[in-house]
Amino acid sequence: MATVDLKDVKKVYPSGVEAVRGVSIAIPDKELCVLVGPSGCGKSTLLRMIAGLETISSGTVAIDGKIVNSIGPTERDIAMVFQNYALYPHMKVYDNMAYGLRNRGTPKDEIDSRVRSTAKVLELTALLDRRPRELSGGQRQRVAMGRAIVRNPKVFLFDEPLSNLDAKLRGQMRVEIKNLQRSLGVTSVYVTHDQLEAMTLADILVVMNAGLVEQTGAPLDIYEKPASTFVASFIGAPPMNLLPLLQGPAGPALTDGKAVDFAPANAATLGFRPEDADVTFGADAPSGALVLPALVEAVEPVGSESFLHCAAGGNRIVVRVAGRATAKPGDQLRVVARTEKLHWFDNAGKRVD
Ligand SMILES: Nc1ncnc2c1ncn2[C@@H]1O[C@H](COP(=O)(O)OP(=O)(O)O)[C@@H](O)[C@H]1O
Ligand SMILES: [Mg+2]
Repeated sequence: MATVDLKDVKKVYPSGVEAVRGVSIAIPDKELCVLVGPSGCGKSTLLRMIAGLETISSGTVAIDGKIVNSIGPTERDIAMVFQNYALYPHMKVYDNMAYGLRNRGTPKDEIDSRVRSTAKVLELTALLDRRPRELSGGQRQRVAMGRAIVRNPKVFLFDEPLSNLDAKLRGQMRVEIKNLQRSLGVTSVYVTHDQLEAMTLADILVVMNAGLVEQTGAPLDIYEKPASTFVASFIGAPPMNLLPLLQGPAGPALTDGKAVDFAPANAATLGFRPEDADVTFGADAPSGALVLPALVEAVEPVGSESFLHCAAGGNRIVVRVAGRATAKPGDQLRVVARTEKLHWFDNAGKRVD
């Protein structure tokens, strides 16, 4: 159906803001690519350039191998779903879904069959005669998707489509979008600032920061091997613990002076995930592990697990324990992380392996 290729795409707004500073991404046919990053990093700008709603300052956008920089949005054969679904309030669901096809002069019979089959897929058949105000948030979002799907486009673009929904519904819709995208097999680009949504949806995850790509890859590969401290702290919740290292006389050392003799020579930051450490009240120091004396400051129970927020030698760290925590605020304990679970970053914040 369609590949989407971005080559060194840049966007400088007339105001002088460099919103996108050189982004290259290759999205294979039928795959779902998620752009994730903090607010203002250029995700929407990039998506709007793919859609043709924003001019491209330099670089190329190609769909199916054909450069579309100078092709208008309607000729790109793309459908976009936004956060504020922008349904026509006075039109019934049926007409909202049929609108784009009517505008293109699609024959009436074909419109009817496409709207009805799409409604069936999205379980909207019983709602076709309702107006948007008579629908729940999730149903409205489904209509917005329906409007995109009936057009049978080459590419779907989603800009934070779920951020107006509550957490539970967001979780359900996430699964629906993933299944739908997979069964329709339409190449898609999905923008979100929510790292969990990004992780669960993506075939290809692109982590953006300040107009640039920090890392591209399969979600779990990125989780397991973040390329930078930025990615390490952005992907995963609670985020990876990052401890600064000093260059001591005997190599890298923690800020309290304790040497970390197994650290790579150029390591400037040590990282470990909250689930990759254990806590012990004992005094025995296991070898082949990082051992940090720590003071429990707060305990955050989630049900299936608990997070211990600790102070350790001037650093704040978070450790995950299964189920109900036995530790309580004020407890002194030791946090132990096996060396193979440690991540290292140099003084530019780049991963050291
Ligand atoms: N139309 C515009 N004119 C000027 N600057 C803009 C415009 N739209 C967005 N920006 C700026 O470009 C940067 C990226 O914005 P945006 O692409 O909306 O980021 P995101 O979607 O990741 O939150 C921000 O600094 C934003 O203020
Ligand atoms: Mg945005």
